[in-house]
Amino acid sequence: MRLSLKKAIALIKQEEVVAVPTETVYGLAGSIRSQKALEKIFALKQRPSNNPLITHLSSADEILVFVKELPPGFDALAKAFWPGPLTLVVPVIEEALPTIVRAGLKTAAFRVPQNLLAMGLIQMAGPIVMPSANLSGRPSSTEPSHVESDFGEEFPVLDGGVCLKGVESTVLIFQADQWHIGRLGAISPEMIGEILGYLPITPKLSKKQPLCPGQLYRHYAPSATLYLEKEQINESACIIGFHERTYPNHRPLILLGSLNKPEEVAQNLYKALRELDEQAIKSAWIDMDFPKEGLWNTIRERILKAAG
Ligand code: TXA
Ligand code: MG
Repeated sequence: MRLSLKKAIALIKQEEVVAVPTETVYGLAGSIRSQKALEKIFALKQRPSNNPLITHLSSADEILVFVKELPPGFDALAKAFWPGPLTLVVPVIEEALPTIVRAGLKTAAFRVPQNLLAMGLIQMAGPIVMPSANLSGRPSSTEPSHVESDFGEEFPVLDGGVCLKGVESTVLIFQADQWHIGRLGAISPEMIGEILGYLPITPKLSKKQPLCPGQLYRHYAPSATLYLEKEQINESACIIGFHERTYPNHRPLILLGSLNKPEEVAQNLYKALRELDEQAIKSAWIDMDFPKEGLWNTIRERILKAAG
C-alpha cells in the first residue's frame, strides 16, 4: 500500500511501522519512543535481538540529548557528511535510548538522512529507527516493489521511487581514540580520511567480535547460487556484468552499469540480485574484475557477502 507523507507521519505517530525511502536504501521506520513499534520491527525483519538499530535524526544537534560528550572528529564528520549516508556510533547516556534500540550496548548509531521524504517524516514525527526494509539475510530494498516482495502488497510504503545511492550508509565507530570502519557503505574511507586527516581503521573481519554486530550475519543474499571465479562463468545460468564488456551471449545478461560509474553500479546492485529470484534464475556469475578503490570496495564487499 503506497502512502503519502502525511499518512506516513500519522502512522508513525500511531506507533505503526512503515517503509520509508532514504538516499541509501528503504528503511523500516518506527518511532524511538514506541516500544511497540520497535518490537514490531525486530519481528517483521526476523532480526536477531543482539543487532542494534540506527536512530535517524533531522539535524546533528538532536544527538545532544542522547550523549554526554562527543568524540574528537565528530563535529567535522557531521558537518562534512550530514545530511547524508554516514552513520556514527558513539557512547550514549543509556537511559536516553531504549535498550532494544542499542541491543543493550553502551553505544548507539545515529545518522541524518538526506532524502527529503525521510527528513520530512523525522521533522514531523520525531527521531525514528530504520533498519533496511528487507527480511534479514535478503538483499536490501532500493524501490517500493522490493519492500512489497518481502513484506506483502499491503505493507505501508512511503513511495520515493528508486534510492539515489543504492547501498547502505557507511558505519564509523569511535574506539580507542580513533574512528574505525564498522561497515563499508556509500561514503568511501578515502572521503572520510580527507576530513579526519587520517584513514579510518579498517579492522580485519572478526567472526567472534565484529565492530558491528550486523556483520555476523549472512547478508544481501538471493536464493540463486552466485559464482565469482573466472573459470565458473560456464557453470552459471545468467551473467551479471558491465556495459563495456562482452560476455558469452547464450544466456540472460543483467547489466550493473558502466565500469566508469561506480555510483551507477551501486545503485543497481540490489535490484540485480533481486531480479535473479524474481525470474527464478538458479545461478549467476558476477564479473568481479573492477577497481579496488573507493565505492568499488563497498560493491565488492556486498557481492562477497551475498555469495556467502
Ligand atoms: O543506510 C542505512 O544505514 C540504512 C537506511 C535505512 O538508513 N539502514 C541500515 O540499517 O542499513 P541496518 O539496521 O540494516 O544496519 C545497521 C548496522 C548494523 O550492521 C548494526 O550492527 C550496526 O549498524 N550498528 C548499529 N548500532 C551499532 C552499535 N552501537 N555499535 C556497532 N554497530 C552498530
Ligand atoms: Mg540491513
